[in-house]
Amino acid sequence: MQKPRIVAGNWKMNLRLQAGIHLADEIVRGNRPEDVQCILAPPFIHLPLIARKLEQHGIGLAAQNCYEYSTGPYTGEISPDMLQSAGVAYVIVGHSERRLHFQESNALLYRKSLAVFEAGLIPIFCCGEPLEVRQQGKEKAFVEQQLEESLFPLSAEYLSQIIIAYEPVWAIGTGHVASPDQAQEMHVFIRDKIRSRIGDASAAVLPILYGGSVKPDNASGLFAMEDINGALVGGASLVAKDFLEIMASFPNS
Ligand code: PGA
Repeated sequence: MQKPRIVAGNWKMNLRLQAGIHLADEIVRGNRPEDVQCILAPPFIHLPLIARKLEQHGIGLAAQNCYEYSTGPYTGEISPDMLQSAGVAYVIVGHSERRLHFQESNALLYRKSLAVFEAGLIPIFCCGEPLEVRQQGKEKAFVEQQLEESLFPLSAEYLSQIIIAYEPVWAIGTGHVASPDQAQEMHVFIRDKIRSRIGDASAAVLPILYGGSVKPDNASGLFAMEDINGALVGGASLVAKDFLEIMASFPNS
């Protein structure tokens, strides 16, 4: 089976409504390789306004977060079921900014991932170590614990449909991209771990994206690696030209 190629844009808390619609238009009109799945993750308020247009052009729509329950008295929260009704297909779960600023734990991220699957959506599950953990050489044990506590309790059927993003915290928004070798080594480790739960065939095509300072000038080095199936892009996804260039950075298949 052909390995997946995915580039997802995480707009984070950026862009007023009209600017978001404009950026989505530029990406829709842009030149996108047919064998690369494009996904956009705008803020909640943009979602229903661009859903139809993206769908017409084969672009996936993701939310950046959701709550763990489907309805109820949780003022300010948005459920996976509500997202599904707005045309969303994916939800970013466990981004390091949510772990850091909103104290999201591995246990909560398991419950959120499960809720996302139960609503018929796909989690884009983020994992990755902070700088001090890498400096101590303990990055694999750290990521292993994130996977074990948040993903291993999921059924093999769900787990085989997930998208994983390895995002070392020290590389996010810093301009210090991981080297292709550093990323490849962790991607192999993650794939091996998940293989033990879902088997060889599913693990071979499990999308594992790299995230953290991906730019047009470093994407092709990352995408040349065997186990890097694409990228979760933050800053560079806010500039259509850069985002489209990243999408065009896979080796010829
Ligand atoms: P960055 O963000 O590309 O701006 O480093 C990546 C992310 O946080 O998903």
